[in-house]
Amino acid sequence: MLTIKYEFIKKEKNTNARLGKITTPHGEIETPIFMPVGTKATVKAMTPEELKDMNAQIILSNTYHLYLRPGHKLIEKAGGLHKFMNWDRPILTDSGGFQVFSLGDLREIEEKGVHFRSHIDGSKHFISPEKSIEIQNSLGSDIAMAFDECPPYPADRDYVKKSLERTTRWAKRCKDYHKKPDTQGIFGIVQGGMYRDLREQSAKEIIDLDFPGYAVGGLSVGEPAELMYEVLDYTVPLLPKDKPRYLMGVGSPDYLFEAVIRGIDMADCVLPTRIARNGTVFTSSGRLVVKNAKYKEDFSPLDSECDCYACKNYTRAYIRHLFKADEILGARLTTTHNLYFLIKLMENIREAIKQDRLLEYREEFYKKYGYLK
Ligand code: GUN
Ligand code: ZN
Repeated sequence: MLTIKYEFIKKEKNTNARLGKITTPHGEIETPIFMPVGTKATVKAMTPEELKDMNAQIILSNTYHLYLRPGHKLIEKAGGLHKFMNWDRPILTDSGGFQVFSLGDLREIEEKGVHFRSHIDGSKHFISPEKSIEIQNSLGSDIAMAFDECPPYPADRDYVKKSLERTTRWAKRCKDYHKKPDTQGIFGIVQGGMYRDLREQSAKEIIDLDFPGYAVGGLSVGEPAELMYEVLDYTVPLLPKDKPRYLMGVGSPDYLFEAVIRGIDMADCVLPTRIARNGTVFTSSGRLVVKNAKYKEDFSPLDSECDCYACKNYTRAYIRHLFKADEILGARLTTTHNLYFLIKLMENIREAIKQDRLLEYREEFYKKYGYLK
């Protein structure tokens, strides 16, 4: 009995894109899907009800942040993360690997795990594969991620090889330690940097451990877009066809298209929510910085083709005013729009897969968005 089930529905005729359905303990997810990020048990500025109104099917949260604050034991006492934050749809938790490795000078890696200092108060901590799984068990996410190492870009081959081999040993320890196979599935993470043979080695080792889903990690870490696409070109086909495939840390419209075309089913990124709080929005004709002076008297919506709550009810001039006046509603409206935009984009992509017209849809989208001249 698998906790996380993937049902393959169809492959798009002209690409490797797939339509599918993932079943989790908190319900079903239609794929390909974009997952909004709720790092600290909240998708910044959004209530769960608002997320549901925009058809968010699953959100992501972070082991590292919740372990430090408020603590996974407290969340367990509250009845788990779903109950704590009032979100009853699926949750995926990242393992803390990536966050701990981003701490730079504040951490030290050894075979047993990673020693680090809290970015909040400098206190000392240690997270091992076992500890990461214990925390994710307490949080009660539907999908937990294996504790991995994400090498920086660029990184030399020798380092990446040693790192991916440790990631494999850690993945095995995560699996062996996992205590909630009936209510939570763990996904393995393929590493290997930008080296084809190392991606092949990592994929083989991780797949041998037999997880209910697989992620491609170590991408979108500062490498050129073309290089990421190339790595996906040879990595995604190595993954089993009957399991979900998740690309970690990707959330711009072009990256989402290109990932889906190469066979990716799930992706997450802080990009839409982060740029929203800086006053930047996606629109069907490209990114727009609503704070700019040129929108001072622009009484049209953020995107005239969007029917999100913000676009149906407010103007660029008003939202610009809110940002200028430091009013928090501004960030709420831009966040609403950006998340809706990506969720809708993925809905349109799923429809295009159904109709075998994904390349035509990409062409149309890119032309309007300004990716193509
Ligand atoms: N988020 C973005 N990339 C990664 C990765 O390589 N590993 C983990 N655990 N999380 C990520
Ligand atoms: Zn909108």
